[in-house]
Amino acid sequence: MSVEKNNEIDEEIASLRQKLEEYNYEYYVLDAPSVPDSEYDRLFRRLQSLENDYPEKVSLNSPTQRVGGAVLKAFNTRAHQIPMLSIDNIFDDQGLEAFMKRIEDRLKRTDLAYVCEPKLDGLALSLYYEKGALSVAATRGDGFIGEEVTQNVRTISQIPLKLRGSNIPQILEVRGEAYMSKAVFAELNLKAKQKGEKGFANPRNAAAGSLRQLDPKITAERKLSFYPYSLAFLSDDMVLPSNHYDSLQALKNWGFKLNPDGALCADTRACQEYYRKLLQRRSALAYEIDGVVIKVNDRALQTRLGIAARAPRWAMAYKFPAEEVLTELLGVEWQVGRTGVLTPVARLNPVFVGGAMVSNATLHNYDEMKRKDLRVGDTVILRRAGDVIPEVRSVVLAARKPEAEPFILPEHCPSCNAEVVKVETEAAIRCSAGLYCPAQRMQALLHYASRKAMNIEGLGDRLVEQLVKQDLLKSPADFYRLDLNSLAGLDRMGVKSADNILTAIHNSQKTQFSKFLYALGIREVGEATAKILAQHFRSLEALYAATEEDLMRLNEIGPVLAANIHIFFKQAKHRAIIQSILEAGVEWPEPALKAEDLQGQTFVITGSLSSMTREQAKESLEALGAKRDYFSVIPTDAPEAY
Ligand code: IVH
Repeated sequence: MSVEKNNEIDEEIASLRQKLEEYNYEYYVLDAPSVPDSEYDRLFRRLQSLENDYPEKVSLNSPTQRVGGAVLKAFNTRAHQIPMLSIDNIFDDQGLEAFMKRIEDRLKRTDLAYVCEPKLDGLALSLYYEKGALSVAATRGDGFIGEEVTQNVRTISQIPLKLRGSNIPQILEVRGEAYMSKAVFAELNLKAKQKGEKGFANPRNAAAGSLRQLDPKITAERKLSFYPYSLAFLSDDMVLPSNHYDSLQALKNWGFKLNPDGALCADTRACQEYYRKLLQRRSALAYEIDGVVIKVNDRALQTRLGIAARAPRWAMAYKFPAEEVLTELLGVEWQVGRTGVLTPVARLNPVFVGGAMVSNATLHNYDEMKRKDLRVGDTVILRRAGDVIPEVRSVVLAARKPEAEPFILPEHCPSCNAEVVKVETEAAIRCSAGLYCPAQRMQALLHYASRKAMNIEGLGDRLVEQLVKQDLLKSPADFYRLDLNSLAGLDRMGVKSADNILTAIHNSQKTQFSKFLYALGIREVGEATAKILAQHFRSLEALYAATEEDLMRLNEIGPVLAANIHIFFKQAKHRAIIQSILEAGVEWPEPALKAEDLQGQTFVITGSLSSMTREQAKESLEALGAKRDYFSVIPTDAPEAY
């Protein structure tokens, strides 16, 4: 190609990119498009076709990357140069006053200004700009190490790929929240539903799930948004604004869209007022929030206040109360758990509350349900805070229909029809059939396969339900007798998925003694007790031989638990199942060191290890009796910015 032609193409590409970024900015940041969509599309297609013809001219920060670049195999991790801190919470005005008093006492002055911002419910991002171009975007991760999601972040229209203006710093780090608007969330879930898929529980999970896609095209379709909330680092070729508010204005000048709902507040009263007004507007906002973040405005004062533990002293999240809405109680269903406990679950007229559609809520147990005096058709107050399980708070008695009748205690198990028993000392009622009840069996098998137990990956409720129904799974020992034929014949199961399940079962066979004990589902033996048993007895033979007194000699084990464990291992059928599981090849490493060698010692594991993950290292040490104590230390000389 001639030099002239080459220059001509370079110029056209540069001009197209500049125009497209400008139109993108007008549309997504200023909300004021100056050209119709068709004009944007025309230029976009022209740029795409030039980049297709001259692949050597493709640039990662070209507007064409906004629809999603190459598919990744995995995300790289990225250490944050300045830790991404968390933030402390307060829940009422007293908390707010105490927070401000602490600050005033430390600084010995009262004339402080604050910036109040909506606390967005999305996920935190760190964006690095080098010489004005977006170079790396990473998630918060554990605050020290995040995941690099640059390709995906390029698809977020409100994030500039290149900074605007003439004052471009060598390096700029911006932090802020990527989120999914309520409207996009609702549309995404509607589509999922139409396809028979499950959808996301709330906009935050949806945003996180969308950013962690290996294929950026999927992220692009999810239409995420972004608001910056901090100028975290600026190279010293530029002067860092002296306060938070001005830093945000600087970001605005570089092309970021600021959250229009933030405000400068002169004192405690103004912050309280801000909180109340925002709470009133909460449901009308286009995005989900769970409170207000209040920050000391002056940077020098922020630095003087510094960091306590993992959160700065100069910022606080004033959380909103759990959201409550009214809905109708359509009925109560009884779910049978692993140990036969029947849990009442309220079926509700679906409502949107606390950022999610809710159609079921736990009623905890029969006593609790009686206390609330629920009846079919009642109007109930449903409450949901963040990720907490939705809960029926109370009945609106004034709205009760006269014919509404109280629920009666079920006499028979909804799954197997066996008699239901109520133990006087317990709030729960139980199905009396034990593992003869298909529902109990199914839950016990799911527990056996669950992540913290034997960790058989990809074994979902539906599959186990089918296997139990077809009598292919009666006890956990049957997992190891499954074969391609029996699996591939099931609903929605091809040879490939059947093969994956068999591989997962095979891979799960190497385990830890404590995990195996936990997997057995002995009544009231949770993970912690299983670990204690494994550490102390170290072999099944020793456990089989243990008397109730032996068990009770361990501090953590009382008479009821000791009896449960003892009875479990005494039963011939349990021993037979265990025997058969071991014969199928389930095994765990013999403890190489004596437990006493490590007992009571504390280990701190940080950084990455070459032969195992940190979690695996922790587990091995714990299995040998070391104390679990993992923490990361914020370097004391870390810069105070966030
Ligand atoms: S400031 C040191 N401002 O809340 C303070 N955080 O625990 C750093 N968040 O995961 C955060 N909106 O992603 C700040 N306006 C806002 C925020 C905000 C949401 C999130 C943030 C972080 C969490 C803090």
